[in-house]
Amino acid sequence: MASIPAISFAKPSTPSRGTVFLFARESQGLTEVARSCDPAGVLDRAFSVADFSGQFGVSVNLLAPEGTSLDRLVAIGAGKEELTEYAWMKLGGIIGAAIRTAQDVSIVLDIADAEAGASAAANLAAGLMLRTYAFDKYKTRKDNGDKSPRKPAKIAIHTADPAAARKAFADAKAVVSGVLLARDLVNEPANILGPLEFAAEAAKLADVGVKVDVLTEKEMKKLGMGALLGVAQGSPRGARVVVMQWNGGKAKDKPVAFIGKGVTFDTGGNSIKSASGMEEMKGDMGGAAAVVGLIHALATRKAKVNVVGVIGLVENAVDGHAQRPGDIVTSMSGQTIEVLNTDAEGRLVLADAIWYCNDRFQPKAMVNLATLTGAIMIALGQHYAGLFSNNDELAGWMIDAGAATHERLWRMPLGPEFDKLIDSKNADMKNIGGRYGSAIVAAQFIQRFVKDTPWAHLDIAGTAMGAPGSEINQSWGSGFGVRLLDRLVRDHYEG
Ligand code: BES
Ligand code: MN
Ligand code: ZN
Repeated sequence: MASIPAISFAKPSTPSRGTVFLFARESQGLTEVARSCDPAGVLDRAFSVADFSGQFGVSVNLLAPEGTSLDRLVAIGAGKEELTEYAWMKLGGIIGAAIRTAQDVSIVLDIADAEAGASAAANLAAGLMLRTYAFDKYKTRKDNGDKSPRKPAKIAIHTADPAAARKAFADAKAVVSGVLLARDLVNEPANILGPLEFAAEAAKLADVGVKVDVLTEKEMKKLGMGALLGVAQGSPRGARVVVMQWNGGKAKDKPVAFIGKGVTFDTGGNSIKSASGMEEMKGDMGGAAAVVGLIHALATRKAKVNVVGVIGLVENAVDGHAQRPGDIVTSMSGQTIEVLNTDAEGRLVLADAIWYCNDRFQPKAMVNLATLTGAIMIALGQHYAGLFSNNDELAGWMIDAGAATHERLWRMPLGPEFDKLIDSKNADMKNIGGRYGSAIVAAQFIQRFVKDTPWAHLDIAGTAMGAPGSEINQSWGSGFGVRLLDRLVRDHYEG
């Protein structure tokens, strides 16, 4: 893993060495703190030379500023709007990008209100950590192209109430660690991370107090998970379902369930994918990675909630045992499925994982995440994930959590017109419809395994991997979903 900076919190003071960051609000002039960092008064002139008035995200960089013993003084524009949690994360990310070679960094937060200052400091630190993550464990040479810091930086955030900031940061850091875990899992290549290796990573959640059960193929067979096992049968690397339970809530409270598609590599099977871009299919377990990251986050911050995570882990490979187009499999629900395209495998995995989860836990709500369809990227691009739900209240909560965390969701339709597209001549259903609306058809397929439980399906094919970088993410695997669902739990299920 990349060198993660060491962050501490300190009382306000005027730093006298290293690199100092301070914030400038748009058209408010310099604060007293900023002035104290700039005894020779060079900032005003620098601002005017740079035509800088504190616009959000714009920075002015002074090297060896006159009248100080600092290496660098950087003013970052904080705009004029009220700063949201995500805005503070972005500012932290911008700082993270600017400290590549700095070792001794001070960030001066000029917020008098202790509570607001603590939350700002925590979000700033979280954004900084998320930005500096890089998947570089397989780079044996740190050459010129390497953008990660030489040594982990020491960063002090100066804020009115450091103790309150430390407390707020403990929670934020738990969520960050969950995001970074999800990114690591998505970025890891499939030769290293197959179903068994992924299950072993998930089993490590026991270290943070999560109860973990791993179902083997034999147990899955006994449960009748023919849909999931049909996908796995073309790979020598086995299949697992991992069940993770975090019981931080009241004993009799029904859990909230999160279910993830964990296809550790998707060749397409006999309906094989074309070569170009197939390497991206190492990330076809992004849903499962988000579930593991989320439960890690909730357990680490000891969330007062009961949650269960269920992930279906398979490799969709192709050998002489692989399932064929036209095969008919029987799912755990008893419903039969005609597999007309072996590349529509995620829905087969989810069919059994969701049924099992619902049957065993009777959760109060289920949210599944899956890199399910290329079609969702055609519909929504890479800045929104597709949201499908049978429950307007849950859908609204999810959209709000998406807006707050900037892991944005766009609701897509469901309905009987779409459902009938998967009726099959030879079985209860087929696993593909036609060319049109195929992200919706996939969601419709999954819904046949949900019954009446409030449910939301997130198609994260466009957002979990390969999405354009942002202030807080430069990694191919984004960890999408962890912050979103942590927020959903925090706002609606924690008591
Ligand atoms: N894992 C893919 C979807 C995907 C595509 C994720 C690109 C991320 C990037 C999924 O298993 C798949 O192959 N879906 C097919 C379904 C089709 C055969 C109905 C698709 O989207 O083309
Ligand atoms: Mn596929
Ligand atoms: Zn897939």
